[in-house]
Amino acid sequence: MEKQQGNLFYIETYGCQMNVADSELVASILVDNGYRQASDIDAADLIIFNTCTVRQHAEDRVIGRISNEMSRKKQKPHLKIGVIGCVAQRLGEKLLEVNAGIDFVLGVDQYKSLPMTLRFLDSWGVKHCSDFNSEQSYEYHSPLRSGKHNAFVTITRGCDNYCSYCIVPYTRGRERSRLASEIVREARQAGEAGFRDITLLGQNVNSYNNRGATFPDLLEMVNDVESIRRIRFITSHPKDLSARLISVMQKSNKVCEHIHLPMQSGNTEILKRMNRGYTARHYWKLIEKLRDAIPNIAITTDVIVGFPGETEEQFDDTMEMMKRLRFDAAFMFKYSVREGTEAAGFENEVPEEIRLERLKKLINLQTGITTEKYQQQTGLTKEVYVEGVSKKSTAELSGKTRDAKVVVFPGDSSLIGSFVNVEITDAIGWTLKGRQLSKE
Ligand code: SAH
Ligand code: SF4
Ligand code: F3S
Repeated sequence: MEKQQGNLFYIETYGCQMNVADSELVASILVDNGYRQASDIDAADLIIFNTCTVRQHAEDRVIGRISNEMSRKKQKPHLKIGVIGCVAQRLGEKLLEVNAGIDFVLGVDQYKSLPMTLRFLDSWGVKHCSDFNSEQSYEYHSPLRSGKHNAFVTITRGCDNYCSYCIVPYTRGRERSRLASEIVREARQAGEAGFRDITLLGQNVNSYNNRGATFPDLLEMVNDVESIRRIRFITSHPKDLSARLISVMQKSNKVCEHIHLPMQSGNTEILKRMNRGYTARHYWKLIEKLRDAIPNIAITTDVIVGFPGETEEQFDDTMEMMKRLRFDAAFMFKYSVREGTEAAGFENEVPEEIRLERLKKLINLQTGITTEKYQQQTGLTKEVYVEGVSKKSTAELSGKTRDAKVVVFPGDSSLIGSFVNVEITDAIGWTLKGRQLSKE
């Protein structure tokens, strides 16, 4: 009985898709070692927080959450609580000072030592903090996938770009490209298990390079995997997006008509101080090339406002660029200072209220553009990968188009997991409404 009670784990994941993929990896390591996934957090004997520190707010939020969850130990003394991911990597042992209830802290390259860490805890009650300096590519593992239809496949780990505002190179370490053969194996395995939509993951997928195989090569290899129907990738970096990549995207029928291409700023001087390695003009020309090659491509982006020293005019350049490029959607952020990064030492911090004001202005502008773009989809026929029942109504199904838009339409749940042609009849916010035309 005690044994049964002792091995249920629950992982709570924050941050980017990389963390989602890592949680799937950690889950598989635990299952291989005799642990079982708990149905919910209340049932767990082991709770793991996979954390994000990209902005201070993200870190504060997860630390607050961990502190709250400590009260569970009063009812369940054998409960263990661990912290992994980017906050773990950034703060290391300091986390044990922040919260004495934490049982272990593991950095992003240490997940294979999790079973050993847990044995130490069980046998001797030793709290554990791993070495945070190794490099790991986690080859020859099969992640325990959390989704049903979309599978993430990590292709690179770490980042060498050192954008001046960004903590990721410090938490994720140096860039490593995984073996192409392993990536193809994982993609094939996912496809055979019924995942038709694969997303290749890396902080900058465009710089993938393993023994001469580049990112466009890899896309071609994955495109040949029969069981897969759609291929996506995040994130692309404008400085490394090659003409060959555009041509491979154009030619490979499974590569979806969507690219997430963070712009960060529409002003060249700011881009320079961000250490992004491209000019505003280069970025805009890239968008033109992408749209020329793939006319119906959806383009999404990330933007930071209030970077140190950003003047009103420089912010206006970002606004103008958003008007000119008309992204399908954008993730927009207020600059958040990250200790240890280059920009943390920059002068002329933009006051918080101005950052917020600029953010609101930008969100306002982009919301209008996104709404118009979605409205323009009315009347089109789109191939929808049906992923489940709509959250709002059980009589409706929900799925995704190749260009990454959510579509809701009336239909029978037997269609879940299949591809359906849907005519778009309306757009409500950032959801398209439609009616089914045909199932393939
Ligand atoms: N590797 C990806 C994702 C990095 S994190 C890329 O290069 O795009 C996701 C986004 O968070 C970034 O694109 C950036 O817009 C934002 N971001 C990163 N650091 C930030 C910071 N210090 N303050 C505000 N936003 C930040
Ligand atoms: Fe951060 Fe830049 Fe690397 Fe993206 S490319 S993770 S923004 S350093
Ligand atoms: Fe956050 Fe780490 Fe991803 S800091 S955005 S979880 S790489």
